[in-house]
Amino acid sequence: MKIDVLTLFPDMFSAVMSESMMWKAREFGLLDFAVHDIRDQAANKQRKVDDSPYGGGGGMILKPDVLVRAIEAVKSDADAPVILLSPQGRVLTHQAAAELSRQPRLILVCGHYEGVDERARELAISDEISIGDYVLTGGELAAMVLIDAVVRLIPGVLGAEGAQHRDSHANSLLEGPHYTRPPEFRGLGVPAVLTSGHHAEVDRWRRQQALKRTWERRPDLLENAALSEEDRAFLQQLRNEAGD
Ligand code: ADE
Repeated sequence: MKIDVLTLFPDMFSAVMSESMMWKAREFGLLDFAVHDIRDQAANKQRKVDDSPYGGGGGMILKPDVLVRAIEAVKSDADAPVILLSPQGRVLTHQAAAELSRQPRLILVCGHYEGVDERARELAISDEISIGDYVLTGGELAAMVLIDAVVRLIPGVLGAEGAQHRDSHANSLLEGPHYTRPPEFRGLGVPAVLTSGHHAEVDRWRRQQALKRTWERRPDLLENAALSEEDRAFLQQLRNEAGD
């Protein structure tokens, strides 16, 4: 996959994109990443990229000519999605990340200041994504969150043991608890089933723990989960125990 990022703060990406999984994805040739400074497309000597809004009010707006030029400078194939990170976009979910991970190319545009001129949106932006219902000072952190969520789903990035399918949210359920050595820590043990060596029982326990945690913390997710008869019976048992 090739990802181009357009930003006014290119240095923000260097640490995140050169550590851990993102470094590995690039090192293994699974991700070609480039960051472009929107300011390079400013026409004037002062490298001015923003201006005050027509109609008054506070804040500054990214100029449409500068932004559209910056997008056109990197967009070599007409079909590549151009995604603006903004609090007004559709909210990023696991499903959205999975769809984006199948694209050969993404162009991410980081908004700043009060926002971008609407004509740049109309002319050059094909999608708009938010990472949640809160406002950041710019789209850079949101772009990094999106890149991480998407790139780890590219086959090969997490290695052979990659367990993306077991991730929280991959099947609309949260993951249950995990344990590792030591067998006892500050008086707390490990559920006996996990050391029983009985794989079918372990799988059953994990499924039930995932259902329980989702029911307790994010019951809204259960509406989209694929549930078996056994799952439904287990959830009913939880409800009965809680007196619901
Ligand atoms: N820019 C500012 N806030 C944002 C958010 N919540 N998601 C994506 N981009 C943003």
